[in-house]
Amino acid sequence: MKIKNICCIGAGYVGGPTMAVIAQKCPEINVTVVDINEKRIAAWNDEDVENIPVYEPGLSAIVKEARSRNLFFSTDVDAAIDKADMIFISVNTPTKTYGIGKGMAADLKWIEICARQIARVAKNDKIVVEKSTLPVRTAAALRDILDNTGNGVKYQILSNPEFLAEGTAIQDLQNPDRVLIGGDVETPEGKEAMEALVDIYASWVSKTNILTTNVWSSELSKLTANAFLAQRVSSINAMSELCEKTGADVNEVAKAVGMDSRVGPKFLQSSVGFGGSCFQKDILNLVYIAKSFGLNEVADYWEQVIKMNDHQKRRFAANIVKTLFNTVSGKKIAVLGWAFKKDTNDTRESAAIYITDYLLNEQAEIVVYDPKVKEEQVYADLDYLNTRSSKENRSRVTVVNDAYKSCEDSHAIAVLTEWDEFKQLDWRKIYNNMLKPAFLFDGRRLLERKTKEEIGFEFYAIGN
Ligand code: NAD
Ligand code: UGA
Repeated sequence: MKIKNICCIGAGYVGGPTMAVIAQKCPEINVTVVDINEKRIAAWNDEDVENIPVYEPGLSAIVKEARSRNLFFSTDVDAAIDKADMIFISVNTPTKTYGIGKGMAADLKWIEICARQIARVAKNDKIVVEKSTLPVRTAAALRDILDNTGNGVKYQILSNPEFLAEGTAIQDLQNPDRVLIGGDVETPEGKEAMEALVDIYASWVSKTNILTTNVWSSELSKLTANAFLAQRVSSINAMSELCEKTGADVNEVAKAVGMDSRVGPKFLQSSVGFGGSCFQKDILNLVYIAKSFGLNEVADYWEQVIKMNDHQKRRFAANIVKTLFNTVSGKKIAVLGWAFKKDTNDTRESAAIYITDYLLNEQAEIVVYDPKVKEEQVYADLDYLNTRSSKENRSRVTVVNDAYKSCEDSHAIAVLTEWDEFKQLDWRKIYNNMLKPAFLFDGRRLLERKTKEEIGFEFYAIGN
């Protein structure tokens, strides 16, 4: 079966870049990305491709190449579902904020809405692909909804989790370590649907890197992959605290450990704590699933990854207060970096939000600079915590568009995102314009201690 029309529901950080790359690599397939968020779709259609809503190196060029050729963005969800042979569901699956499983389980409300909409609109057979990250066995719920319409339309449900990381999304999509496709391996129709999706990826990914499994393995592999990755960060961050007490340097430890080929060197960068929309949500979801099967030891094991991460953020903020003579009340602290990692404008669960909140509770005045994050996003992130009124957040936090300005007259600087440009700053100029003693807290191990201390900074770095 050859796929001619694809619809992707959800034009976010996954739907947008993933479909842009499919459209680029498969010019013979029409790809329509739909969303209920009109503002987002308008931004994807902005004449100036630099204004598309997701910042990812290389993405705007691909959108420019494919948009209006075979890549379309629209709010007409029904029309796109109707026309498609294959429908990707790439909507948000955040942690539930109410009811049973509050604070742990994935909220599948938006997934279910999509399934019901497909069931209502579809007139011919469809392949439905789970692109969102979902609890294991979600496909069974989708099947229940789709198979009970009574209109004779037949569905195949595939799981095709996405492994891209933000900031390197295009690279990850164009050259993935693996593509994972789960489906009904027992039936010819199931196998045919899986082959149709394999064919799409095979346009640019070697078949040896395309794995096919049963649906449940595929769904669970995605949660497992994120849990393993986050666990590495929490493991090295746990060691960073021990390094600070013992004179060891966490970068040296990470290098020594990572050179063991069984461990490997990647994902051992100690930090102020992992952020992003997925690690915490997916581990909480895993913990919830384990608990729901009565597997309490399994649940506790993974929950510790989150506890360690919370501890890392808290101890970084507490150390700022302690170092600044046990009070930051009325003191100006510059926050360099608001995104959860470099090369993205995404701020979801960014450590900077929590560290700023902690320092605001200690009555600090905060001045934020991030090269890609807009002022309104910083305020929205703080307001979302509900710790204080939005008026107070606006009066105590200033967002500027210049790193030097954010540091002027400050008591301390906290580097919270590893943006390359922070390395190139004229740190002597920054030092000269600060109050003394000038404190510099590096939450990313981005800056070199020796040169900063030579300038005169009181320098603190995670794990050193
Ligand atoms: P996102 O919030 O950026 O985008 C989701 C979009 O879906 C939103 O624009 C929303 O308006 C839209 N939407 C919700 N319900 C809809 C409906 N019924 N009809 C039409 N549109 C609807 O989320 P994201 O970061 O793209 O993540 C999507 C999924 O992919 C999540 O399950 C996430 O766990 C997973 N994932 C994310 C990443 C990542 O790097 N962000 C990587 C891998 C997997
Ligand atoms: C992560 C995974 O890497 C992707 O494979 C996955 O698809 C995605 O989650 C998802 O499911 O959403 P992402 O969150 O975009 O991708 O970015 P990462 O590079 O994994 O970084 C996550 C957080 O961990 C960031 O805050 C980063 O700064 C931090 N991190 C990462 C460290 O502190 N140290 C490291 O060594 C690596």
